[in-house]
Amino acid sequence: MRSKIVAGNWKMNKNLAETEALLTELSAKLPDTTAEVMVAPNFVNLVTAKQSLESSTIEVIAQNMHFAESGAYTGETSGDMLLDIGIDTVIIGHSERRAYFGETDEILEKKVKAALAKNMRVMFCFGEELTDRKSDNHFNVVGGQIKNALFSLDASAWSKIVLAYEPVWAIGTGETASAEQAQEMHAFIRKTITDGYDAAVANNVSILYGGSVKPANAAEIFSKPDVDGGLIGGAALVADDFAAIIKAI
Ligand code: 13P
Repeated sequence: MRSKIVAGNWKMNKNLAETEALLTELSAKLPDTTAEVMVAPNFVNLVTAKQSLESSTIEVIAQNMHFAESGAYTGETSGDMLLDIGIDTVIIGHSERRAYFGETDEILEKKVKAALAKNMRVMFCFGEELTDRKSDNHFNVVGGQIKNALFSLDASAWSKIVLAYEPVWAIGTGETASAEQAQEMHAFIRKTITDGYDAAVANNVSILYGGSVKPANAAEIFSKPDVDGGLIGGAALVADDFAAIIKAI
């Protein structure tokens, strides 16, 4: 179901006490919204985050999961382990996982399928690097990332997919894609899905933008017709900023 979503990816930030403090502050400052609001704290703090948000509408999601059921995968976390603590949405394919942990389209396809097999919701991230954009190859790269990891799914599986377009050159750099660049790419993504499946599938999927979204630029980016929300990094670590971004949607 296509819905408005604002999600905070905390990455490897905030210890236990800081996690509790930020969630307490965020809960108090959460604006009235019909959008879905999500936060993805570090794994070791997920249980505490769930407890802190017990009576809140804010959803706790995970930053990653492994594709295997269980076994000898040191340092990894399975879908069942997430479900066991009440987490049923997971980010897969973040560019930092691709760049620093060798996650290929093939691995990501396996992860997506493993999560969907558990009836989990997947927030699938992708986006081009600066060299791709400079060489005018960004549509090819993004189209390829989507097709390679997701186009073996049945049409029905797409109801559990949220897409997050995060151009690598805009992540943590302070340089945002313009609202026009975001809209242009999001429209391309929707067309790619229409061509691979049909318009109903494409029009039902939420496509979030991520990359230096701040209170100052959120409203303009969110005003674009194919932008259904944002995946927020740095600004999600500051309650006032995240609240302002939620208000902007
Ligand atoms: P920034 O908002 O810090 O650029 O990070 C975006 C991001 O990577 C969210 O997943």
